Amino acid sequence: MTPTNLPRWTDEAPEPGVPEAPPRHVAIIMDGNGRWAAARGLPRLEGHRRGVEALRKAIRAAHELGVRHLTLYSFSVENWSRPAEEVSDLMNLLRLFIRRDLAELHKANIRIRVIGERGNLPPDILGLLVEAETTTRANTGLDLVVAFNYGARQEIVSAVRRIAEAARDGRLDPAKIDAGLISDHLDTADIPDPDLVIRTSGELRISNFLLWQSAYAEFAFLPMHWPDFDKQAFEEAVASYRSRQRRYGGRLAARAGA
Ligand code: IPE
Ligand code: IPE
Ligand code: MG
Repeated sequence: MTPTNLPRWTDEAPEPGVPEAPPRHVAIIMDGNGRWAAARGLPRLEGHRRGVEALRKAIRAAHELGVRHLTLYSFSVENWSRPAEEVSDLMNLLRLFIRRDLAELHKANIRIRVIGERGNLPPDILGLLVEAETTTRANTGLDLVVAFNYGARQEIVSAVRRIAEAARDGRLDPAKIDAGLISDHLDTADIPDPDLVIRTSGELRISNFLLWQSAYAEFAFLPMHWPDFDKQAFEEAVASYRSRQRRYGGRLAARAGA
């Protein structure tokens, strides 16, 4: 792709029909590091390390493909149930990633945001996440959303709790509760819903990721494991997205091939 025909970012909500613009928001379930390693007789940690390299490639490719918001599912609230050694390896990789890459991401004008629960994180991890957010707060390039210690049900529960408290205290009329108000109480409040959700590793499930936000997302389930994900795979997923007919429950005009 030459610089002259780079797709332009758009902040317009996608219209029904075949998308003309690149997806505004791509969200990725980066899965299959363990199986990638096992297939090569390597420790799982090596799969996670290679996963971080694939993540760097995905960030670059997102920018080149004209994606405005990229959400990466890095650690789920359910992932704490893994053996302590693996959890500690994953925490260490996040520490390393922020320490090594933050300056470069900042230089590339990337804005970092973190979604997920913060209360039970190791204090130094929380500090690094906050540092990444504050350092890059004013950046205007790719919006990188890191879903860390994230669970969609927990996110919805916490939104419902805050809405209920507002109603109890008389600050909110329950009749005013609508979908927009619920969206505004999620961690993703000012991020548009994902247009495209990609999952690697061949699993056909959501695993507690962006349940509310992906109501009308398009999905791409790829057979490859996450360490093998590259720009070509990203391009193919985006090309597939751009061949879909998004109907949002309606009917397209006959000339659009509905
Ligand atoms: C994805 O790879 C990374 C995280 C969930 C943190 P996995 O570790 O889930 O690898 P598989 O799915 O077991 O192969
Ligand atoms: C989803 O992958 C979570 C992340 C990619 C961070 P998992 O490997 O945890 O999901 P399941 O257990 O296969 O559903
Ligand atoms: Mg997995």
